[in-house]
Amino acid sequence: MVLVSGSGTNLQALLDAATDPAYGVEVVAVGADRPAITGLERAERAGVPTFVRRVGDFGDRAAWDADLARTVAEYQPDLVVLAGFMKLVGQEFLARHGSRTVNTHPALSPSFPGMHGPAEALAHGVKVTGATLFVVDAGVDTGPIVAQTAVPVLDDDDVESLHERIKAAERSMLVEAVGRMAREGFTITDRKVRFGRE
Ligand code: GRF
Repeated sequence: MVLVSGSGTNLQALLDAATDPAYGVEVVAVGADRPAITGLERAERAGVPTFVRRVGDFGDRAAWDADLARTVAEYQPDLVVLAGFMKLVGQEFLARHGSRTVNTHPALSPSFPGMHGPAEALAHGVKVTGATLFVVDAGVDTGPIVAQTAVPVLDDDDVESLHERIKAAERSMLVEAVGRMAREGFTITDRKVRFGRE
């Protein structure tokens, strides 16, 4: 199960990888917090069921979160991948799916959490940044780290060129790590995520 909010290039990388049975992953559904996005089109093109849950269609954020959690549960996913999903999930979602939900963030955690990872890395003048896959918790990009990948920041980068370089590395990291989580399982001990079953 993958949740998206935008262009869905990370989703596409997973859909492409999943066409090989040896990869061991089936994308059972794709959900979004907004309609008419390229991410949903990618899912439809791949023949994967989609759904949309807009915060504005619910009385409050908690009601949205509970409905999202219920909808995700209907598909009984082993893993929920937030791939450019621009909403924080809430208490109910975390209670039901927290331990199997991962999110990808375009920075090297714990640096630059939040919505502007590439811009903040550029503004800070770091020479290396990257992407982080982590298991979601109640914080903003704070959960146990599954995988990280580094990319250089070049002298003439702007936010867009830097984010594109990050996204290329991010997609490979995501495909590799999600495949291993699915095939090998994973454990979390004192924030340390390890592949393999107990
Ligand atoms: C990714 O860099 C993700 O980490 C960030 O937004 C981007 C989403 O890209 N939150 P896409 O929708 O997968 O193309």
